Amino acid sequence: MLLDSMDLVAQGWSIDLITTDISSEAIARAEEGRYDALEMARGVSDDQRASWFRPSGEHWCVNEQLRRIVDFRVVNLLDSFGWLDDLDFIFCRNALLYFNRTAKAAVLERMADTLAPDGVLLLGDTETPEPVLNQFITLPGRDSVYRRARTPVARLA
Ligand SMILES: C[S@@+](CC[C@H](N)C(=O)[O-])C[C@H]1O[C@@H](n2cnc3c(N)ncnc32)[C@H](O)[C@@H]1O
Repeated sequence: MLLDSMDLVAQGWSIDLITTDISSEAIARAEEGRYDALEMARGVSDDQRASWFRPSGEHWCVNEQLRRIVDFRVVNLLDSFGWLDDLDFIFCRNALLYFNRTAKAAVLERMADTLAPDGVLLLGDTETPEPVLNQFITLPGRDSVYRRARTPVARLA
């Protein structure tokens, strides 16, 4: 997704990307932006590799243009993220599984509040925004993609 975003940057779009994790090691690894051939083979096209990476020994490193649009932060999703607002997308894959139902509801409520009115939440393949389904609208044919509901949707129990 980031690399697709970079294609938009090349077309003149301005994109800010904030990447977060509770683990400082995970953030340091992401910030390093260094990938082996196996990682590169998972979804990076030849054109994207040529545009946004440079070779480094047996690895590939993201180039400065790509690195510049990403803000890396250590964040606990259980804390407030009131410092974020009006986001177009939230990508949150396979992190909600760490939370009990109450915590998951609180995190998802805050995500809904943080999204722009038509903002979109992307979860992992097997995840849903249950238990706050009324805050989101499922997009047809897109199992793990949800749009923020403008007014929470009433649902039958
Ligand atoms: C299973 S990994 C998924 C990583 C990545 N999103 C993916 O799909 O490949 C879950 C990540 O959630 C992070 N995590 C766990 N609890 C968290 C919390 N309370 N706040 C923020 N991140 C958390 C972990 O450190 C880990 O990096």
